[in-house]
Amino acid sequence: MAMQLDVALGERAYPIYIGEGTLERLTDAINAVGQKGTIGLVTDSNVGSLYAEQVEAHITATGRKCITHAMPAGEANKRLARIEEICGTFLDAGLDRSSLLIALGGGVVGDITGFAASVFMRGIPVIQIPTTIVAQVDSSVGGKTGVNHPLSKNSIGAFHQPQAVIIDMTLLKTLPERELKAGLAEAIKHGIIADAKLFDYMVDNAAKILDYDLAAITVPVQRSCEIKAAIVAEDEKEHGVRANLNYGHTFGHAIEAVTEYKVYLHGEAIALGMCAAAALSLELRLVDQTFVDQQKACFEAYGLPTRWPDLPVDACMMAMQKDKKVRAGTLKFIVADRMGHVVQRTDITEAQARAALEAIR
Ligand code: NAD
Ligand code: GLY
Repeated sequence: MAMQLDVALGERAYPIYIGEGTLERLTDAINAVGQKGTIGLVTDSNVGSLYAEQVEAHITATGRKCITHAMPAGEANKRLARIEEICGTFLDAGLDRSSLLIALGGGVVGDITGFAASVFMRGIPVIQIPTTIVAQVDSSVGGKTGVNHPLSKNSIGAFHQPQAVIIDMTLLKTLPERELKAGLAEAIKHGIIADAKLFDYMVDNAAKILDYDLAAITVPVQRSCEIKAAIVAEDEKEHGVRANLNYGHTFGHAIEAVTEYKVYLHGEAIALGMCAAAALSLELRLVDQTFVDQQKACFEAYGLPTRWPDLPVDACMMAMQKDKKVRAGTLKFIVADRMGHVVQRTDITEAQARAALEAIR
């Protein structure tokens, strides 16, 4: 059964449809946006060959023309040159201010399409159809869009909220197992930062979830969207509470950067980062060892990394200073003070951050 959530952002509010078969909602969602022009569908080389035809059929059922652009898959393609190519395809096909873009894919396609939509003709609407867990529980909701620069991840971008997010759980059936597990790290994160019951659910249902039981996976997807939607509605541009979503990300992004995005998938690096964040929380005496052990056991149940014996502490410390979350030279760390609750700290010393990294070696 499909359910609908709303991201309460006033004039820019939008629905999130979640369930098996929600692609059926696409035609109505497009009609609700009201753009009459040609629709630009952006996907990647993997997802396009699996699902583009099905999505194109729903688009053309609205009576609008559809032009599909399939970019090469992978994080290495989340860069400005691909934005130029996407805009080139759509300019060539005559898309204009009356057009609408649709992102069909994981976080890479979602971020790049959202950004393309924010700049094409100075901004046209976008609908997100996320096909990975990362995209369903995180990147498709909240309007952060962008690309990487060789010097810094996600450093060129814009806030551009979608008009609708359509989460069809059946699309996950083809998602590779490693991608499924990595994405679940972000769902577990939502439990740790905001909902102890969600964390317990993830612990108790690991076997079913890892067996691609779609009903079991729908629970954390839906709860994650509820949590993220509430946070975004309160703090769209990350001036306050939205930073809680970055639990484990300061350490995790550093790990991704020092490994040049080639060793760990995003969710895997974030799992390691959350282990470092838990160690920091323990160091600050905000939680006890039981919290750290519970978190670690949960990641292990999902086959996620919890230690990196070769972690280069100096290189990670340097990478953290380049993180785009640094403001006026100050790094903000998100730490847990109990399961289901986190706090923000800007008073962490270099020695404490080092000790947290040492703890996951
Ligand atoms: P991804 O988009 O690279 O997808 C992972 C792989 O799975 C790709 O090879 C893709 O082709 C394939 N794939 C996707 N869906 C599939 C399906 N249903 N069946 C088969 N194969 C499928 O990676 P991701 O993990 O989805 O996203 C990571 C990106 O998301 C990063 O760039 C990260 O920065 C970004 N992100 C953004 C936000 C945000 O708020 N905007 C939040 C979290 C992550
Ligand atoms: N992924 C963190 C955020 O959207 O703020």
